[in-house]
Amino acid sequence: MRKILLVGECVLDIIQIVETFPKEDDDVRSVHAYHQRGGNASNSSTVLTNLGLNCELLTTFSNDKMFVFIIEDLKDRDIEIKNCRYYENCNIPLSTVLLSKDTGYRTIIHTNKNLPHVKFEDFDKCDLSEYYWVHFEARSVPETTRMMKKIKDFNEGKAESDKIKISLELEKKRDENMLLIKYADVAILGRDFAEILGCNDKKTAIYKLRDMTMNDDRYKNKNCMLICPWGKDGACALDLEGNFFESPIYPCETTVDTLGAGDTFTAGILYSLIKDFNNIQQAIHNGCKLAGYKCGFYGYDCVK
Ligand code: FRU
Repeated sequence: MRKILLVGECVLDIIQIVETFPKEDDDVRSVHAYHQRGGNASNSSTVLTNLGLNCELLTTFSNDKMFVFIIEDLKDRDIEIKNCRYYENCNIPLSTVLLSKDTGYRTIIHTNKNLPHVKFEDFDKCDLSEYYWVHFEARSVPETTRMMKKIKDFNEGKAESDKIKISLELEKKRDENMLLIKYADVAILGRDFAEILGCNDKKTAIYKLRDMTMNDDRYKNKNCMLICPWGKDGACALDLEGNFFESPIYPCETTVDTLGAGDTFTAGILYSLIKDFNNIQQAIHNGCKLAGYKCGFYGYDCVK
């Protein structure tokens, strides 16, 4: 059975739940604390697996002891990791997360000190005939470009149903990541990224992105569906014909955990498009519903 491959960084999230966000130099007690596997593609793979899809995660590990927990968690969930590379003497990417009970906001302090990201040579070990969809976090542009081009070459001359679809999440605030959009079938434009494009609302952002993919040779790609989630403002999308769709948020009764809500949205989009590729309108509604639902629970295991 073919599966979905997700490419990105794996992180250890250490989460402290606080009544309210502390002030500098405060000494506060948290209400509760726990740790879980994190990272955008990694979180999306958890949700997609919970929804019943077969997933593989292509990431990097090291002999840092903290990775034992991460790898066990992936194995317990049947998320395939057979093509991941293991490094020596590199620290685990770590996020310290404060979840404020009064607002539901999450504040993330993230560091990746020295663990390299996935390289083309790692991706090259994957047998592309095993996948129907590959999802990328936008990072290390030269390496990721080679991965995407390899998929394009693989698709060449194949029947539509045998081709691999490529999705791209543009989140990290680096301009050059935009270059990757040239090869994507679906691009999800995060709010932080949209803000570096100088846009302050989702509609402006998605039209700006469309203009860039239509008219700027560096990004030209007329075959890319565009999706733009915008926190409490829901999400919007443009299909290949330029039709604009919008979805509101579907808030849960009490928001307790917004950590990974965006990754859950991405998982909802992918799940929906995998089932019905041409229904982008349904996809953004499903993405918003799933993300809203998740915010009512800690972690991702409510999504099943
Ligand atoms: C949530 C998340 C966390 C991780 C951080 C990395 O979207 O993936 O799990 O710590 O973002 O930026």
